[in-house]
Amino acid sequence: MHTRYLPLVLCALASSASASEGVPFAAETIRLVRQDCGSCHGMSLQGGLGTPLTREALAGQSAEALAVIILHGKHGTAMPPWKSLLSAPQAQWIAERLLEGFPEEKQP
Ligand code: HEC
Repeated sequence: MHTRYLPLVLCALASSASASEGVPFAAETIRLVRQDCGSCHGMSLQGGLGTPLTREALAGQSAEALAVIILHGKHGTAMPPWKSLLSAPQAQWIAERLLEGFPEEKQP
């Protein structure tokens, strides 16, 4: 009975993968960062409970190091690990975008 829905699920998966042209998750990832990370780092990522995640504040850090913090959190601080929600390439992508100045969420 459940198999009836399988083609639908596969189709949804395929379409999200085919939007991939580089970054399938861009829009969702931007929203997640603005909302979930924003709850600590500030909606404009200027800092709050968490440190600012602006280009200026992160200058000089490597994307790799930031991606490790995003995936594993920062021990002894409020920064939680995100590896259950984010893949390694996604964390790397976020880190790279943060270093450039994080993109705004597109309004629907
Ligand atoms: C529960 C609060 C909280 C949430 C949610 C949170 N962070 Fe953090 N984050 C922190 C705190 C606090 C620090 C500062 C840790 C310290 O004292 O060094 C931090 C540090 C960081 C750093 C290192 C900054 C630096 O200057 O080295 C990065 C990168 C980062 N967070 C990214 C993220 C991303 C991306 C998300 C969302 C996927 C996120 N954080 C969600 C609390 C949070």
